[in-house]
Amino acid sequence: MEIGVEEIKQWLQQLSQTLQNKKEYLTDLDQAIGDGDHGLNMARGFKEVSVKIENTSYTDLGLIFKDTGMTLLTKVGGASGPLYGTAFIKCATVLTGKVTMNVSELTDALEAALNGIQARGKANLFDKTMIDVWEPVVSYLKDHKDSVDWEDVMRLSNEKMEATKDLEAKKGRASYLGKRSIGFIDPGATSSAYFFTELSKVLKGVSK
Ligand SMILES: Nc1ncnc2c1ncn2[C@@H]1O[C@H](COP(=O)(O)OP(=O)(O)OP(=O)(O)O)[C@@H](O)[C@H]1O
Ligand SMILES: [Mg+2]
Repeated sequence: MEIGVEEIKQWLQQLSQTLQNKKEYLTDLDQAIGDGDHGLNMARGFKEVSVKIENTSYTDLGLIFKDTGMTLLTKVGGASGPLYGTAFIKCATVLTGKVTMNVSELTDALEAALNGIQARGKANLFDKTMIDVWEPVVSYLKDHKDSVDWEDVMRLSNEKMEATKDLEAKKGRASYLGKRSIGFIDPGATSSAYFFTELSKVLKGVSK
């Protein structure tokens, strides 16, 4: 499978659309255990990304990931802007100079992104953050490079997002609630599930 700038543009546009549609839902999730800005942060940031990439023609994958990351870093506040921004910028470093990539190269980029999120946010698995979706999805991709079933990726990201409901938050504002954070789905894990679901939808449609 060869993935190029057009597929990445399509994914980012679909992700932006989903985040606009789910803005209130993400806000509700963040109101329960945080400060209620996650929906706004994500919708605003990806709207900026959407406009930026629509009006730019990219000659390689590194450049579109870098532009996306820089836009999120500079336009989105809170914890999520820098974390998602770092993720895209780390992908860019792996993809610089590549006009297309295969699933193995995409996996390398996403692994670098995960490492970047962890280096920046210092969260571990089961701390009730976006890591609880990213880590298992990247693990799955590493184990199935040649045989990825994108339906499985969608299912997995959704399942891991739902599973954050039973966890106690150890990072971010939600951690101030201690055990009272149990029983609510993590907002960042939810936006991460959208990230991987929209990516999977686009890649499912790419012929081998
Ligand atoms: N240290 C961290 N590492 C990884 N993800 C994190 C970390 N801190 C917060 N998050 C993720 O960010 C989400 C909240 O993002 P939001 O846009 O609401 O920013 P925020 O209000 O500044 O965050 P927070 O209150 O959690 O510090 C959380 O649901 C969680 O998934
Ligand atoms: Mg918040």
